[in-house]
This record gives sequence, structure tokens and C-alpha cells, in this order.
Amino acid sequence: MKQIRLGSSFGTDNLEVHTCDIPAPGHGEVLIRIRAASLNYRDWEVINGQYHTVYGPGLVPLSDGAGEVVDTGPGVSALRAGDPVIASFWQGWHSGPLADSLHAETLGGPLDGMLSEYRVLPQQGLVKAPSHLDFAQAATLPCAGVTAWQALVTEGGIQAGDRVLVQGTGGVSMFALQIARMHGAQVIVLSSSDAKLALARHHGATATINYHSTPDWADAVTAATNGHGVDHILEVGGPGTFAQSLSALAVGGQINVIGYLGGKQGQINPLQILQAHARVRGIAAGPTSTLEHLCIAIEHNGITPIIDREFDGMAYAQALNHLTSAQHVGKIVLNL
Ligand SMILES: NC(=O)c1ccc[n+]([C@@H]2O[C@H](COP(=O)([O-])OP(=O)(O)OC[C@H]3O[C@@H](n4cnc5c(N)ncnc54)[C@H](OP(=O)(O)O)[C@@H]3O)[C@@H](O)[C@H]2O)c1
Repeated sequence: MKQIRLGSSFGTDNLEVHTCDIPAPGHGEVLIRIRAASLNYRDWEVINGQYHTVYGPGLVPLSDGAGEVVDTGPGVSALRAGDPVIASFWQGWHSGPLADSLHAETLGGPLDGMLSEYRVLPQQGLVKAPSHLDFAQAATLPCAGVTAWQALVTEGGIQAGDRVLVQGTGGVSMFALQIARMHGAQVIVLSSSDAKLALARHHGATATINYHSTPDWADAVTAATNGHGVDHILEVGGPGTFAQSLSALAVGGQINVIGYLGGKQGQINPLQILQAHARVRGIAAGPTSTLEHLCIAIEHNGITPIIDREFDGMAYAQALNHLTSAQHVGKIVLNL
């Protein structure tokens, strides 16, 4: 089988094609033929040595993938050959809160990821794919979809009528838009592009703001909510957006700190957190149980993930360039 590994130095140009034997599943393990993998910003950071944890040569990148079960080892009861499955981003985090001991168990670094024709994984780290999704759609769920569900539903307890703010139109933000609409919430979308905002309205955004033409967007968010502010924010800008997020928040609202696209250093005024009665928390994707809940919900509601573009598996460099060009809305997928 073929798989792509990081060579002796970082960068997309240093990804190498390797040929090796198809692995056999051991006790409690499942052999999967991976059919699709999706890209996350984190994958680009890992490949380029820019992630907050640096992983060494030889790593198979990409955390997210879906495929079909080919074979099962002894002790596997929940899955059988032919089942369509999705790999959970956190292999060892099954449910409940994140524990310190789990920090080394994510796919695409430090564990080998999904840019591979076959992969053996424990059955507990796999979830059956929703029956209405193809492999490309199923492969978008583990990191971006789970992160949005963990923030809004598992941790956030979103209610019908709540107001949600998402920043940008990337993978996490578009899943948050779909999940919030599914729960009867209103969603305000920020983007650098009017064309992307038109697409966001097509997908159910109730208000849109261009953060380039309206750099002080917190006032526009307050106006769009009749002075109330938003109840949930998915913070992907980090230091570049956090102060405005606090200004745009309703009293008692929640900020989910997810990304740092606007830089890694910044200043926070704690008094603003106090005045807004804000609840601020970090979100690190979510456990396998969150992936299960997400799959059930999108199947029952007939939701399909928003895919910007699909590439052939060997066009991984082109696909990564498309991700960093930030021209996409939603997810980018490689078909393997
Ligand atoms: N903590 C976690 O578990 C977790 C999980 C997934 C992702 N993340 C992080 O969350 C962030 C987004 O991930 P993603 O996969 O959705 O990325 P993505 O698909 O690459 O989307 C990024 C989009 O964010 C918008 N953006 C870029 N810079 C921005 C800024 N300074 N302020 C506001 N918006 C900005 C742009 O949208 P427009 O062109 O529309 O403006 C861009 O297309 C990344 O930092 C990623 O590492 C964290």
C-alpha cells in the first residue's frame, strides 16, 4: 500500500510517498481502506513545523479520514467488513472531560494520520458514518465538525433563539453555522469576502459582516442583535479578534477559544470578562462520543457538510495550497 510521510525536513515539498505492507488488525483492532481524508489548518501547521507541538520525520499527516472496514481482529463486535467508518480525532478520549493523560493520542501527530491507503485503528476510535453521506462528506467530520459541536452543544448547551457569532467561513465556522441553525439559533457570520458572505447567507446565516470593510465589527454585531449581543462565539482569530469578541458578547455569553489565525500573542483585559459575565473556555476538538452525537444529529436532520473542493489523493500539495490561499468556504477533501 501507499502512504505519504513527512521527510527529514518540514514543508509540503518534503512529503514523500512510501510503499509498505498492508497491516493486519490485532485484538480489538480494525483494518480500514481509507477512501477520503479532509484537510484542517492544523495539518498544514504540522507539515510545516508551525504547530504548537512539533512532530518529527516519518509522520503520516492528516487527522481526518473515512473509509470502509476491510478486516477485524479478535474481540471486535461492533463493526464488520464493509461498514463505512470515520476515525475519531482523539483516539484515546472516548467521552467526558479531557484528561492530562490523553495528550499524546491525536491522529495526524503524534499518531500517524490518514494520508494512507490503509490504516489499523482500535474499534473504540471508530464511529459508523451517517448512511446519507459519501466518504468525502464523512471525512470532514472528525476535527472541524466535532469542534463546532463540542463548543455549541456539549459545552455550550445551545438553545433555540440563541445568537451565535462565527468568524470566517472555514471548516469549523461553517459546521458551527449548520449546527446552530439545526438548533434554531440565529447566526452572524464574519468574513473578509462579500462573495463568501453571500454563500453563508445561502447556508442559513441570519446576518453577515465583512470584517475588512467593517473592522470595528463588534458594534455591527451589537446592532444586528438589537443591542443584545451574541450568546456564543467561536473564536478562531485569537489575539486579533478576542477583544472585539468580548465587546460583541451578551451578558453571560460564552466564548469558545478555538484558533489563533490572527497570531499567537496578545493582550486581554480581565475587567471586560467580568463586566460581560463572560464564560471563556478552550476547546480542543472533542471525544469520540461527540463524533457519535454529531453523526446521529446530521443523519436525523439530513444535513450534508459544506465541501468547497475535492482533490485526487496524490494532489495533496495542491490541496494544501488551496487551504492556505483561504479561498475556500467549508472543507477541502482528498479522495484516496
Ligand atoms: N481547538 C481545536 O480543537 C481546533 C479544531 C479545529 C480548528 N482549530 C483552529 O481553528 C482555526 C480555524 O480552523 P479551520 O479548520 O476552520 O480553518 P480554515 O478552514 O482554514 O478557515 C480559516 C478561515 O478563517 C478566516 N480567518 C482567517 N484569518 C482570520 C482572522 N484573523 N480573523 C477572523 N477570521 C479569520 C478566513 O475566512 P474568510 O476568508 O471568510 O474571512 C479563513 O478562510 C485554526 O486556527 C485552527 O487551527 C482548532
